Amino acid sequence: MTLAARAFLLSTFAGLFVVGAAFLVAKFEAPSPNSYKRPSASASPQTADIIAGGKYYQLSCARCHAADAHGNDKANVPSLVNDNMSDGDMIAVIEDGSSPMPAFKSQYNPQQTKIIVKYLRSLK
Ligand code: HEC
Repeated sequence: MTLAARAFLLSTFAGLFVVGAAFLVAKFEAPSPNSYKRPSASASPQTADIIAGGKYYQLSCARCHAADAHGNDKANVPSLVNDNMSDGDMIAVIEDGSSPMPAFKSQYNPQQTKIIVKYLRSLK
C-alpha cells in the first residue's frame, strides 16, 4: 500500500470516528430542563386536574369502586360513572365517608377532593 493510500484510509477512519462520537453524544445527552415539557404541564389546566384526580382515584378508590369506576355490584359498591348525585353531595360522601366507605377528609384537601370529582365526571 502506498503512503498516500495509507494516509487516506487513516483519515477516513479518523473522520468516521469523530462523526460517530458526535452522534453518540447528541443521542445520549440528557434533555435540557428548558427543552423538556411534561405533557400535563403543557396541556390545559382542566386536563392536568383530571390527570391528578385520576391518580388520587387509583390510589384510594379503585380497590372498591374498580379501576374503571364502574363499581362492584356483588359487593354493593356503586358505580361512580354517570352518577346522578350532585358534585356537592359527592364531595360530602368523599369527605365524610359512608359506611363501609372510609372518610377521606384527612387525606385530601378540598381542592384535591374537587378534582377527584372532576375526574369522575370525565369518565363515560
Ligand atoms: C372500602 C371501600 C371503598 C373505598 C376505598 C371507597 N369507597 Fe366510595 N363507596 C363505597 C361503598 C360501599 C359505597 C356505598 C355506601 C352506601 O351505600 O352508603 C360508596 C359510595 C360512594 C359514593 C356515593 C355514590 C352514590 O351514588 O351513592 C361516592 C361518590 C364515592 N363512594 C366515592 C368514592 C371515592 C371518590 C373514593 C376514593 C377517594 C371512594 N369512594 C373510596 C366503598 C368505598
